[in-house]
Amino acid sequence: MIRNEQYIKSLFQLPPGAKTTAHGWVKTRRDSKGVHFIQINDGSCFADLQIVMDAGVAPAEEIAKVSTGACIQVSGTIVESPGKGQAVELRGEVLEVLGAAAPETYALQKKKHNLQTLRELGHFRPRSNTFGAVFRVRNALSFAIHKFFQERGFLYVHAPILTTSDAEGAGAMFQVTTLDLMNLPRGPQGVDFSQDFFGRPAFLTVSGQLEAEIFALAFTNVYTFGPTFRAENSNTPRHLAEFWMIEPEMAFCDLEGNQDLAEEFLQYLIAYVMHNCRQDLEFFNQRYDPNLLATLENVVSNKFARVPYTDAVQILEKSGKQWEFPVHWGADLQSEHERFLTEETFRKPVIVTDYPREIKAFYMRENEGGKTVRAMDVLAPGIGEIIGGSQREERLDVLVGKIRAQGLDESHYWWYLDLRRYGSVPHAGFGLGFERMMMYVTGMKNIRDVIPFPRTPGHAEF
Ligand code: 4AD
Ligand code: MG
Repeated sequence: MIRNEQYIKSLFQLPPGAKTTAHGWVKTRRDSKGVHFIQINDGSCFADLQIVMDAGVAPAEEIAKVSTGACIQVSGTIVESPGKGQAVELRGEVLEVLGAAAPETYALQKKKHNLQTLRELGHFRPRSNTFGAVFRVRNALSFAIHKFFQERGFLYVHAPILTTSDAEGAGAMFQVTTLDLMNLPRGPQGVDFSQDFFGRPAFLTVSGQLEAEIFALAFTNVYTFGPTFRAENSNTPRHLAEFWMIEPEMAFCDLEGNQDLAEEFLQYLIAYVMHNCRQDLEFFNQRYDPNLLATLENVVSNKFARVPYTDAVQILEKSGKQWEFPVHWGADLQSEHERFLTEETFRKPVIVTDYPREIKAFYMRENEGGKTVRAMDVLAPGIGEIIGGSQREERLDVLVGKIRAQGLDESHYWWYLDLRRYGSVPHAGFGLGFERMMMYVTGMKNIRDVIPFPRTPGHAEF
């Protein structure tokens, strides 16, 4: 064994009579009438490979080690499968147990586990049916993201992860330091960060947007795709402290162009996954969300609704619903309002635009009159906000005014302001939360179940 490239997925394509060797982790073993039936999976596809071995072909003590979770290698002959499901199975001739898994203690036994139990088994859950499917979809979706942008001439930019500026101006950043926390250097203003690694306070980035803007004003159309971090203490099924974001940024683009791209992007991604991860999606449809495939089909083939914030508020006020969070012009939309708009009013994704200035970030372009900004949130049924974006304020004086009005230190944004001093142009972009998108395409209801290793308040195991 030097390197295995013979995935189970490809073994299913072999003709009966072909000799081959299969590798994988045992899902189950069943013994009946002098025959052993062994199901193995190597992650390459949803379907398990069935291995059929006559009793006596392998030593009994070897067969005894073939229990759920063990890693085995079997050489044999591909034969037509008499059973339903798979067209072929493997008639095993030589069995080797590469790594046993003691059944008394191996945690991921054959029975169904609930998702919470699986979260605590972060080192084994990738071997389960559910997480096999989740991470194959995640892989396909990542690839589709690059494919979409590369096909359209967007430049891929790696935004920094360590930063000294707050891209959202919201203060929800993890601080990064090499100072000795037990013995902090002090100055007249408290901790003396001039002695810290970067000579000033530094953080994990909340967004690559501001750096993407630098690149858009040189390469026209760009995108980032990387990890972002938020130290907000929101323990909800939709929030992570570490999540991935895709942030396209386009020069010579306004809010209409931005909405068009967001819609085309989401439809492309869904169509790609529906085409390339069919078995996995069918499993989610059957096991977790019976409307999943119909919902995705519907998103791909219908235009999204587009509604200004002011109209959305009127719809909510006139709905006659009792809201936990009261609706009025000027208040941010809460999850219950977003769900009403997407699930009851429009029954599809909705792009809400032109939010009040006060509830949105400093960099969004002010509309005529100054009450609202050229913001857009794409809301998805069952998820709520999946994309947040805007046309950016490209006018220097207005931007400076907004930075001051939000109480931010304009000296930190000197380079961002320089972009408005030299060669400024209307530009726009958005951020798609990768895990929110994963929830949407898989129908999984908890964001912790669509990322390999979730980080949430109090949890950073594995
Ligand atoms: O709306 P947000 O905060 O927008 C930005 O960060 C902008 N800089 C994007 C841009 O215009 N380039 O975040 C964007 C998206 C949200 O719509 C949501 O999908 C996701 O990121 N998101 C989270 N996902 C998981 N956990 C969290 N804590 C998230 N916070 C935001
Ligand atoms: Mg947002």
